[in-house]
Amino acid sequence: MHLHKFEKVWLIFGMGSLALFLVILGFAAFWKGTHPQSHIETIDPENVEAHDSFKPENLGLREVADGKYIVNIVASAFNYDFGTDADGKPVKKISVPKGSTVLFQITSKDVVHGFQVAGTNVNMMVEPGHVSRLETEMKNVGEFTVVCNEYCGIAHHQMFATVEVYE
Ligand code: CUA
Repeated sequence: MHLHKFEKVWLIFGMGSLALFLVILGFAAFWKGTHPQSHIETIDPENVEAHDSFKPENLGLREVADGKYIVNIVASAFNYDFGTDADGKPVKKISVPKGSTVLFQITSKDVVHGFQVAGTNVNMMVEPGHVSRLETEMKNVGEFTVVCNEYCGIAHHQMFATVEVYE
């Protein structure tokens, strides 16, 4: 079969683009650890307290085993609810030691929010009616800002928190 030179160039370009796309996808999934979060479990967004993980007393950070943590969070416009501290003040920062495994569990009471821990591989869409989960190992020391990266209303930019990883 005879192929015109330009046809060959175009075929190589097309196949090359596809190969490059798959390499980038593979790099993100297998090297960077970026995966779609689980949206397996559904929940009543108007009654999230009925779910064990999202009862007010179960919100926030909890150590479940040596070096293993669970963080339960309820997102709503325009706040991440990590529960309250001993003084009854809302928790805005959680701290875990370097190398610990943290399971983030989050749901929304109202609209779609985001939950991105900037500088880590934690980046979830938080949809009302679903529980978003992501487990990760906190490998690097530092203060990481949690941001809402889904536009959720007028004070969207005020939705943030902090995850601290210490030595
Ligand atoms: Cu919540 Cu933007």
